[in-house]
Amino acid sequence: MDSKESGAYGAGMDIHPALRGAAWARSLPVGGPPVDSETLAALVAELADRPDLWAHLVRHDPRVRWYERVALSDTVEVWLIGWCHGQHTPMHDHGGASGAVAVVGGVLQETTLWPSRPPASRLLPSGTLLEVPPAVIHRVGNGFPVPATSIHAYSPPELEMKTFEQALRAPALLAAAA
Ligand SMILES: [Fe+2]
Repeated sequence: MDSKESGAYGAGMDIHPALRGAAWARSLPVGGPPVDSETLAALVAELADRPDLWAHLVRHDPRVRWYERVALSDTVEVWLIGWCHGQHTPMHDHGGASGAVAVVGGVLQETTLWPSRPPASRLLPSGTLLEVPPAVIHRVGNGFPVPATSIHAYSPPELEMKTFEQALRAPALLAAAA
């Protein structure tokens, strides 16, 4: 990502060069309060429908999970992530941010951690649109040989997430960590 974009995109909007000029970029929220998971889901869904804007950027590196931020404003950030077999996040929250995920290739697996229930896992095949409310603690990864790709949005942006790997092994720790 290079210099701050301004003008038609508004002050404080940083857009990957590949996405500049797209109506999607001009519609990104900027200069306002944080937006909710439903709004973010609409935002990632709209970008998911425009692979001509981002498909050429995606990488899948078997050595390390690949990611690139493609948009940042004071209200929202948007990332592309490429997942090879076995790559996953730690169990994490989002620092109080709302989020949304569009799976645009392959199959991801999400494991969600709840304070008073066993961890729950589900598959997120390509085409899945996922709202991630601020209270969600989860781990996302690719357990399949086919590379997976996803688009993520968070609001507010750049909040520090907390990890909960110990709580995954002993859910009772979650209450203590909250
Ligand atoms: Fe997450």
